[in-house]
Amino acid sequence: MKNKIEELRNTLNYHNYRYYIMNDPEITDYDYDRLLKELENLEKEYPEYYSENSPTNRVGNDINNTFLQYEHRYPMLSLANTYSQDEITDFHNRIIKETGEEPEYVCELKYDGTAISLAYQHGELLRAVTRGDGNRGDIVTENVRTIRTMPLKLQGDDFPDYFEIRGEIYLPHSSFKKLNEEREEAGEALFANPRNAAAGTLKLQNSSVVAKRKLDGFMYDIHGDNLADNHYDNLMAAKKWGFRVSEQIKKCSSLEEIFDFINYWDKERYKLPYDTDGVVIKVNKYSLRRQLGTTSKSPKWAVAYKFKAEQAGTELKSVDFQVGRTGAITPVANLEPVRLAGTTVKRASLHNEDQIKLLDLHEGDTVFVEKGGEIIPKIVGVDLSARKEGALPVKFITKCPVCTYRLVKIEGEARHYCPNVNHCPTQIVGSIIHFISRRAMNIEGLGEETVQLLYDNGLIADPADLYSLKAEQLSVLPRLGDKSADNIIKSIENSRSVPFPRVLFALGIRFVGETTAKNIAQHFKSLDNILKTSREELVEAEEVGEKIADSIFAFFQDEENLILVNRLKNTGVQFELIEEEPASRILEGISFVISGSFENYSRDELKKIVEDNGGKNLSAVSSNTDYLIAGYKTGETKLTKARKLGTKIISLTDFMYLIKDAGSIQEESASGDATQTTLFG
Ligand code: IVH
Repeated sequence: MKNKIEELRNTLNYHNYRYYIMNDPEITDYDYDRLLKELENLEKEYPEYYSENSPTNRVGNDINNTFLQYEHRYPMLSLANTYSQDEITDFHNRIIKETGEEPEYVCELKYDGTAISLAYQHGELLRAVTRGDGNRGDIVTENVRTIRTMPLKLQGDDFPDYFEIRGEIYLPHSSFKKLNEEREEAGEALFANPRNAAAGTLKLQNSSVVAKRKLDGFMYDIHGDNLADNHYDNLMAAKKWGFRVSEQIKKCSSLEEIFDFINYWDKERYKLPYDTDGVVIKVNKYSLRRQLGTTSKSPKWAVAYKFKAEQAGTELKSVDFQVGRTGAITPVANLEPVRLAGTTVKRASLHNEDQIKLLDLHEGDTVFVEKGGEIIPKIVGVDLSARKEGALPVKFITKCPVCTYRLVKIEGEARHYCPNVNHCPTQIVGSIIHFISRRAMNIEGLGEETVQLLYDNGLIADPADLYSLKAEQLSVLPRLGDKSADNIIKSIENSRSVPFPRVLFALGIRFVGETTAKNIAQHFKSLDNILKTSREELVEAEEVGEKIADSIFAFFQDEENLILVNRLKNTGVQFELIEEEPASRILEGISFVISGSFENYSRDELKKIVEDNGGKNLSAVSSNTDYLIAGYKTGETKLTKARKLGTKIISLTDFMYLIKDAGSIQEESASGDATQTTLFG
């Protein structure tokens, strides 16, 4: 079976390479999925052949990571930047002067994302580390593993036994747009640009969330022994091994060719599906690079030419104030339409009151809009010379444009809010839309428009009202047939079995996103327990700080919220956590204490492995403890106590073998007669 699994993994790796790297798939998506499913099934059946670099391991897991740090074997330098083509000429002349040679260059795009360093050993991904401070970064291997264009296992056999390859991880425009739409829907803060979103995603603690965000990347730098003697050939080799290397690279032998490349991409970059902020010009030959050397910050053999963000001047026609689901007010500028960076711009975000004051914005001003890394253009300045006489400053509103409630500003936050959470019509409709959304109660067939219609017709005034809707009531809505109405009612029915963590998320408590809701549900197990919990105790749940605790506490102090929650509970919505059955029982009856830190796993990850296999985690060593898994810097008291009580002290590797052995013993006993097997005598 081991061979069959290995063969399937190789086949899938190969097709992954054809699809993601060569853009030339040999099999259909359907066939690929079929093979993947087959492998998944086999891996479930034979857990002893687990491999963290299996192609099935791209979906991430629900374990929360805390990142360990890694010291880069080769420091991650940055690049000298310039906005001037004259300085590129200076760069070129300096190289000729210092080396006496006319160098060949490789011109590449400067991808606007976040840098990553991947280490490969024996052709398999060993570790992924962020740039950090250039000398040491965070180990984010689990997260990088979810990016489908990063090979887990390499093609061919002519790669060095150990090497490090660097590149840029970015979020493609389409994924960025989708992500922000989802965040908007969930009432979460939006990412300002794809770069921030990529960097934030890479540092997420839950790799299954990373997997969903569809990061991508290009590799542009290799370090190791036995490589070719120039950059270009190494990039081509890397591509052959399975890495994603950009098509937009060019060998250039003169300044003219470099400037052609720069000028071409300055215009064409808007057609690319990802952000670029310049061109990187690198000396190709390694012998020349060595001769030129580096400063403490950047190599002397490379330079980055940065594109200027494109700007346009246009007239400010008016300012709208939008009310979001959580009551946050966003000022939006309506502009005289103007062409900018390949699109027509009609609106620009003004973010908040401070921004309006900072720009000293007046009615009818001529403003400059810019599209940097951001998808939503921003106003960067005002043409004071064009200000109309007598123009009044743009004033921030004091009352909610929807319900006229007086706006409030929370200390430490830049935005204004409408505090009329339970009665402001926009917030009510917003909270219902959030409640039914896919990641919350997942009620299908009801869109934003239908919710608005149901609200306007007096059929629903809060999420609990959904559960008393009748199909006949729905079919009175325009363009909604009987069948669709029935389906909506069915979907509402089904949502009663949505697990508690998602119900908690669906309530739309401020600052309680999906992960926080999950952590709270896991910690307190039921709504009744949460209601009994003091504000101080709330912070005991993982990743719940003061701000979140305050918000949750205030939510459940509100009489109207309590009534809503009770009505939901009475209709059968889940307010208790149903503990899942462990995936295997091979550690049943065995208890562990995990102490210290481990290179590739967080303590929480290890605890989850114990639980998933039916074992029990204890927080302190006692006579009930079977094993102490001791990592780096395990507390002396724990060790002494374990020695005194005769608790077995084991390393992480011992633990992994324990699971592996236990798994195979169980398999043997399952295939033979059903005798009781003592696992660890
Ligand atoms: S080469 C020592 N090539 O720009 C040189 N960097 O400002 C190593 N970047 O930290 C970098 N695209 O994150 C290189 N084609 C490219 C790049 C690139 C983007 C980023 C990278 C680096 C930063 C330096």
